[in-house]
Amino acid sequence: MNILVTGAGGQLGTSIRKFAEGQKAHRFIFTDVASRPGSDIVYLDITNQDAVRLLCESEKVDLIINCAAYTNVEKAEEDMALCKLLNADAPGILAAVAARRDATLIHISTDYVFGGDIPIPLKENFPTQPAGVYAVTKLQGEHAVQESGCKYLIIRSAWLYSAYGRNFLKTMQKLTAERPEVKVVFDQIGTPTWAGDLAAFIVHIIVSGQLHKTGIYHYSNEGVCSWFDFACAIRDLCGTSARVVPCHSADFPSKVHRPAYSVLDKTKARDTFGINIPHWYHALKQCLKEAESL
Ligand SMILES: NC(=O)c1ccc[n+]([C@@H]2O[C@H](COP(=O)([O-])OP(=O)(O)OC[C@H]3O[C@@H](n4cnc5c(N)ncnc54)[C@H](OP(=O)(O)O)[C@@H]3O)[C@@H](O)[C@H]2O)c1
Repeated sequence: MNILVTGAGGQLGTSIRKFAEGQKAHRFIFTDVASRPGSDIVYLDITNQDAVRLLCESEKVDLIINCAAYTNVEKAEEDMALCKLLNADAPGILAAVAARRDATLIHISTDYVFGGDIPIPLKENFPTQPAGVYAVTKLQGEHAVQESGCKYLIIRSAWLYSAYGRNFLKTMQKLTAERPEVKVVFDQIGTPTWAGDLAAFIVHIIVSGQLHKTGIYHYSNEGVCSWFDFACAIRDLCGTSARVVPCHSADFPSKVHRPAYSVLDKTKARDTFGINIPHWYHALKQCLKEAESL
């Protein structure tokens, strides 16, 4: 199969590239807008319909994995047009091209489509109620994919982190090393997801020949915690010294509504694809182990 990966320089894209190394059965074409000197990443702006179509035709693409997105949730409130273009319109472009080629699209979405204030694990068919520009545009992106007529798998994830790019793990590693004290909210509950495990799930779907099982799936690591719990675990496992102090979300005023309880129910992904999902604490340990070898 010829597999196009968009946003390949981001957290998830980089994790998928790791899995593709030494993998002979399929041909991967990694693309992004950011140029990475010396890397195998080809320039592709997913908002440019002609460029997407031309590349998919010339490379005879059978599968698109869309890892590109506008992911800065705070900045999205001021940057509405670009956020909509990337998160709502571009998935529609990829889906239309996939439909024309009879290719499959794996599109990544988010727990933010739910709004997240009901304290039960969220199943795929739970009513959506997005709040904020990022969340609203991500849901619009899902709808564009669903309405395109292409074969699709939409995978909603949450609290993504990795050894690459900017994320909560990297921020906490830095702050707990540099400061005597770090305040972290304890009233937002969810599940961290190591991008390495999400990438492994996506690769498993492909190599085990289960791409025909189209639909929406939830994937995060197992277990639940607060950002405070996650920060304490990072501090302890990294051996940094800051005192991590629990605080309320109200102590960090924000324009964006952050879900108080946002835990994805992964039963459908586990049952459909026969996977075991690592607990978030073990996944964090694995991520730190991988980071040491970089
Ligand atoms: N991060 C989270 O906590 C989280 C949680 C749940 C779901 N998700 C979803 O998971 C997916 C992957 O997230 P991530 O954290 O890996 O994202 P990321 O690290 O922000 O990577 C996104 C990539 O897309 C690239 N990009 C930006 N504009 C583009 C364009 N016009 N065309 C092509 N590529 C473009 C970015 O380049 P630049 O860096 O140069 O902009 C970046 O390399 C996204 O769909 C996101 O919504 C993320």
